Amino acid sequence: MSDRAVRISQAGGPEVLTIEPVQVGDPGPGEIRIRHAACGLNYIDIYHRSGVYPLPLPTGLGMEGAGIVEAVGEGVTHLRPGDRAAYASQPIGAYATARVMPARCVVKLPDFLSFEQGAAMMLKGMTVQYLLRRTLPQGGLQPGDHVLFHAAAGGVGLIACQWAKALGLRLIATAGSDAKCRLALDHGAEFAINYSTENFAERVKEITGGRGVKVVYDSVGASTWEGSLASLRPFGLMVSFGNASGVVPPVALGALSAKGLYLTRPSLFVHLDSLETTQAIAGDLFAAVERGAVRIEVEQRYPFDEVQRAHRELEARTTTGSGVLLV
Ligand SMILES: NC(=O)c1ccc[n+]([C@@H]2O[C@H](COP(=O)([O-])OP(=O)(O)OC[C@H]3O[C@@H](n4cnc5c(N)ncnc54)[C@H](OP(=O)(O)O)[C@@H]3O)[C@@H](O)[C@H]2O)c1
Repeated sequence: MSDRAVRISQAGGPEVLTIEPVQVGDPGPGEIRIRHAACGLNYIDIYHRSGVYPLPLPTGLGMEGAGIVEAVGEGVTHLRPGDRAAYASQPIGAYATARVMPARCVVKLPDFLSFEQGAAMMLKGMTVQYLLRRTLPQGGLQPGDHVLFHAAAGGVGLIACQWAKALGLRLIATAGSDAKCRLALDHGAEFAINYSTENFAERVKEITGGRGVKVVYDSVGASTWEGSLASLRPFGLMVSFGNASGVVPPVALGALSAKGLYLTRPSLFVHLDSLETTQAIAGDLFAAVERGAVRIEVEQRYPFDEVQRAHRELEARTTTGSGVLLV
């Protein structure tokens, strides 16, 4: 059967996702060809499809996958044909049966991880790695410190709950339903707040004895922005790393002055600037899974042909944890 890829020729709802036959060529210098077993589903794919993050069109979609290396181009030394491999990276185009891509973005997948787990964990897990290990307030985070993590029952969120617990952090989770709150607690959050029904900033004050948290990890964006700033202690760090509810409006810097807050807007893809860094971040993630600190569960599996349904469900907030497309 010929190769196939998900493509869009215009931004819009899930209906713009089409599956087309594609020719996958041979890898050039520094490239590999990978045959996917599974592709990761991420909220960033929704931003790309809907135009929140505009792309030149037409385009493929998807930034995470796992499978077998079929061929390597000149100069590639860390991968060989037949290797199990996984990645989270640009260029966009992971929703495909096979693809050619830069080798420097791709790492070997350890044998204790399935392809489904690889596709479910690389983008989300490496994001949690750089958030909890590299995106820190002044003086760092110590065991016992409170952090607030929004959308904690999602793909990134459930990995963060577990990893934070392993680091001794007291993670306060937010999620959109009581069932999702229970899931976050089951994965290591110490407290969980249903932000659909409760004022999370008030609850954070109660939980922290009026002080507030050292860091807020906020991927929800517009709807949580004000409450997140209100939840921070003086000199706390606001990490705005996503916009599931809408893009945060332009910020008046004065909003930070009352508490001398720090603000960052990071991206995984700024961290993954070389093979060495990618291997280091992925290696730390694999080690966390191997020692049992983080379990990688695949909560949603969709046949490749049901990519539209996968997007509908992710956007409708009916999913929890990680989801994959099965190739
Ligand atoms: N900057 C980076 O490096 C980076 C890297 C990876 C991911 N991210 C961001 O991290 C977030 C999580 O990514 P993910 O792939 O794991 O997705 P996800 O958390 O599984 O799904 C997004 C979640 O956001 C919450 N949400 C709150 N308001 C929403 C709204 N109005 N519409 C839709 N969802 C809403 C929902 O959880 P509740 O129902 O519990 O509210 C939803 O399940 C995304 O914003 C993503 O863009 C950023």
